[in-house]
Amino acid sequence: MKMGRNYKEQRVIESIYRNEQGHLLRFWKDLDNGERDLLIKDMRGIDFEVLKKAKTLLLKKEALKKVIEQPAVIRIPESSRQTEEEKEAREKGISCIYSSKAAVFTAAGGQSSRLGLDRPKGTYPVTPLKRKSLFQVHAEKIFFMQKKYKTAIPWIIMVSETNKDQTARFFQDNRYFGLDRDYVRFIEQGMFPSVDEEGKIFLRERFRVFLSPSGHGGTFSALKESGALSWLRKLGVKEIFYFQVDNVLVKILDPVFIGYHVEKGCGMSSKCVSKKTPDEKVGVFAVTDGKITVVEYSDLSTACTKDGKSPGAAFDTGSIAVHMINVDFAEQETSGANSLPLHIAHKAVPFIDSGGKKVEPEGSNGYKIETFIFDALMDSAESVIMEVRREDEFSPLKNKTGNDSPESVMRDQLLFFSGWFEEAGFSIPRASDGLPRYKLEVSPLFAVSKGDFIQKINRDIKVDRDMYIE
Ligand code: UD1
Repeated sequence: MKMGRNYKEQRVIESIYRNEQGHLLRFWKDLDNGERDLLIKDMRGIDFEVLKKAKTLLLKKEALKKVIEQPAVIRIPESSRQTEEEKEAREKGISCIYSSKAAVFTAAGGQSSRLGLDRPKGTYPVTPLKRKSLFQVHAEKIFFMQKKYKTAIPWIIMVSETNKDQTARFFQDNRYFGLDRDYVRFIEQGMFPSVDEEGKIFLRERFRVFLSPSGHGGTFSALKESGALSWLRKLGVKEIFYFQVDNVLVKILDPVFIGYHVEKGCGMSSKCVSKKTPDEKVGVFAVTDGKITVVEYSDLSTACTKDGKSPGAAFDTGSIAVHMINVDFAEQETSGANSLPLHIAHKAVPFIDSGGKKVEPEGSNGYKIETFIFDALMDSAESVIMEVRREDEFSPLKNKTGNDSPESVMRDQLLFFSGWFEEAGFSIPRASDGLPRYKLEVSPLFAVSKGDFIQKINRDIKVDRDMYIE
């Protein structure tokens, strides 16, 4: 059927019909040229191989439960031997940073739907006094590390179609928070369509396909396709420190973690914390068929321990979504041989019906498809899982209220900073709920670790009011 305005367009349209998604063109004859352009652009980005795989998964009967075991973990040091090993790892990590072999990567392509935000999560103000955004906090930590280790550190921020313009504008408006623009790069991840029970793609407007960010598993292809991987290679970078934009306490480029990962020649490594409660919404690291994996919190019912327990209750290896990724390993993950498994979530997907009306479903009516970066651990011949203290490294912003909300993120920072003051010998008055009586905030430009803080802080200051240290 000849519909396209040119040869290229016609080929896109034909592939849509060939793949039994012709309903996407239902309103074609009523669309103006601009609308047709947008629809063609959306349709051109559809990966039909992914859709085929997703459809097979949808048809699959519930599989047997996966039996998993607790993985080996480098625990928080207690013995002098462990402390000694940690020291050696730190030295290795420091040498990796000093020699400009480490880069930073931030996953910031998500939609902040649980937080109900209509702008990138990284722009959310989080710090107790200065109300710095998540992006600013991360940028200042990187700034500090560059100065401390006298090196330029490349920072790659993964965004998606939904938030790329706003993110780039935020950095421009804030002059990249003092960082060298040549070392900050935004890369765009892919999008996957949402489908109904029969695998038919939804329209979100008469001329827009319902697409959502493809999950952070898109990191590898985004790194490759954007040219960022070649850029890192040119700069001599060997290791990538990966974290999620929502974690305000992340210890960017933790030398100990880098050291353990490099020492063992790992493809990918991860940090974990002890879970707060069995149903805390974090994935857990586990071993299945001899390989390290993460059982996502939404998939806990698909796995059990040897004695039949839920891993949620039995495992204390909660993922804080902080990983080290070797550059060669990242390249391998883009080869096609190692394609990440799809995860399918049953969700409410608002759509345009055959009459052109918008439908807001009450319950789940469709499926969102994603891939997750932590599934790449299964492809890594060696991996380190390192335990850290939650209060030192993990406070994510996810929800409007309650756990992992602006309120809990504020509280965690106040406890974090007051802990630094106390370790430096200050006495900090506390209220009955355990929070410090004064709001304390330390700029990452002053210190990014307790050690740096204790070394630099002026012992003559009096902590008798809210205080910002820079
Ligand atoms: C995530 C992890 C979970 C971990 C927890 C720790 C997944 C599936 N699960 O849960 O194992 O314990 O964080 O906080 O990630 N993002 C993208 N592109 C996307 C989707 C997400 O860059 O397509 C980014 C988001 O911007 C965000 C991060 O990934 O920074 C996490 O996404 P989110 O949906 O909040 O994950 P959680 O369900 O909280």
